[in-house]
Amino acid sequence: MTNVTGHHHLLLRGVLLLLTALLAPGLLSAARHEPAPGRPPEPPGAQVAATTDHTDTNPASPPAVTPTSPERRMLPAPAPKGRMSLEETLAARRSVRLFADKPLTLEQIAQLCWAAQGITEPQRGLRTAPSAGAKYPMELYVVSAEGVDHYVPASHAFERHLPGDLRPALQQAAYSQECIRQAPACFVVAADVQRTASKYGDRAERYCFIEAGHIGQNVLLQATASDLAGVPVGAYDDDAVAAKLRLPANLRVLYLLPIGHPQG
Ligand SMILES: Cc1cc2nc3c(=O)[nH]c(=O)nc-3n(C[C@H](O)[C@H](O)[C@H](O)COP(=O)(O)O)c2cc1C
Repeated sequence: MTNVTGHHHLLLRGVLLLLTALLAPGLLSAARHEPAPGRPPEPPGAQVAATTDHTDTNPASPPAVTPTSPERRMLPAPAPKGRMSLEETLAARRSVRLFADKPLTLEQIAQLCWAAQGITEPQRGLRTAPSAGAKYPMELYVVSAEGVDHYVPASHAFERHLPGDLRPALQQAAYSQECIRQAPACFVVAADVQRTASKYGDRAERYCFIEAGHIGQNVLLQATASDLAGVPVGAYDDDAVAAKLRLPANLRVLYLLPIGHPQG
């Protein structure tokens, strides 16, 4: 009798294990799509929309610069591996405000753009930095001696936004901070908050601030790992920066990141 009960137990456990194995993936994927507590539920089809709204032509993420798209210049492919570990990079990063008088190479600029907003999962258009609902509200500009370039993540390319050296003008708009004029390149992170608001309403501004932080840290860590350095700059006149760089009215400048070769 004891034996029969034991067999029943074993049989029952086997069936339960089998059921758990069959059901678990379904349960997990269901849980993955559940909104987190306090998070606005996603509208129907949001998952699809969120993964298809970052192509250059999708009206949900309009091209930021001009109605007629300027010529695109492909950038060098980013290096998949550096010489510093993440831990070494984190330990070494320090804000640097004095730079040697030496330009960045196109490879270095391209690597920094990739760290900021590069596409890392082409199928879904996902990027190096996380973004709420994968809405990708940020536009990235690089201000250098050559001009102002707009980074196009989908093609890993530059579009010339403005010709000429706008660094002195940008420095003026940033309360004359010397590091802005001195750095060979200043990365400008600007948000189209509406892109995120279309899904998250009032929380969009907060999400954009957070995302600018992600992007800023990516750029600073990449700079450190590339033997470069920089400083995150938040002190500037919003309107003056937007005016000097002639940014589209839908963009709000959230971060300036002057990057260069550390002096000495
Ligand atoms: C949001 C934010 C805004 C900042 N704005 C400026 C700025 O306008 N000018 C500047 O020289 N440094 C600025 N910094 C850099 C801080 O001064 C610096 O991070 C701090 O002194 C700590 O030094 P560390 O970056 O080397 O760790 C800013 C940092 C953050 C996070």
